[in-house]
Amino acid sequence: MRKPDSVVDQFTGFLELVPVVDRLMAETAAPRSPEDLLDLVEPLGLGPGSLVVDAGSYDGGWARRLEKRFGSEVLALDVVPAAVGAAAQSGTRAVTGDVQRLPIRAAAADLVWCRDMLSCVPDPLAALREFWRALKSTGAVVLYVAFPTPELEPKERERLFKALDAPEWWAGGRAVVDDAIVDAGFQVVHHEQVSPEHQERALLDGGDIARELAILGRIQRERARFESEMGIIWYERWRAWMAWAPYLLLGKLQTVVWVLRKA
Ligand SMILES: C[S@@+](CC[C@H](N)C(=O)[O-])C[C@H]1O[C@@H](n2cnc3c(N)ncnc32)[C@H](O)[C@@H]1O
Repeated sequence: MRKPDSVVDQFTGFLELVPVVDRLMAETAAPRSPEDLLDLVEPLGLGPGSLVVDAGSYDGGWARRLEKRFGSEVLALDVVPAAVGAAAQSGTRAVTGDVQRLPIRAAAADLVWCRDMLSCVPDPLAALREFWRALKSTGAVVLYVAFPTPELEPKERERLFKALDAPEWWAGGRAVVDDAIVDAGFQVVHHEQVSPEHQERALLDGGDIARELAILGRIQRERARFESEMGIIWYERWRAWMAWAPYLLLGKLQTVVWVLRKA
């Protein structure tokens, strides 16, 4: 049975610690923004003559940022024609294709930018070998991948994997990609865990994350209504996508970025 003293203790402590937490928030490092990922590209010395491949570009948002910041030629590539159409409409060179068979000749690219898509492919080693083939000897990869961590409970894991139809290897976490990087022959020149900084940043800046959390709450509360309109498969997918940021904030998922060089 809970002792009344413990309740008094807890809530007194809470009130006392509010200014301490405020101070710690002010004293600890502010979270970096997703845009800061582009700083990793700076040392590569890209310029107007360089070729960048944005592998799994979706609508080309990052391809445009890369073009703007480094002035290089960027090829946005995605397997979804509608995403490629959206990228092309914004003026980016874009092609429909599979990262496992890049439509460029060997040793042509200076950078493969691969953000948040490796977890979609059945074999990360095959994708990394294809990046290797496409890159010049001086080329590099910026690779950013989300993984499940041991903090993700078995039931949450099962539901997430089923909803996203995630490849089996993904359950092995970052170790699988660490091994694939070595097996593909790349040198790791930088690696770090990024999460949950970008999600913290989005919360502090009032980005889309608040709406995602509201949707997550609503689709749980009004499950029958959402499920009957969307169907169970799409309901589960939306739930997984909306739970992505909270999972990153809670350390149930983590994102890692690597900079890889051929030599
Ligand atoms: C989570 S989104 C990330 C989009 C973008 N890179 C970003 O960071 O915002 C994953 C993208 O990878 C694409 N994709 C998945 N598998 C692919 C493959 N085998 N080849 C090319 N694109 C693929 C999807 O269509 C989707 O646009």
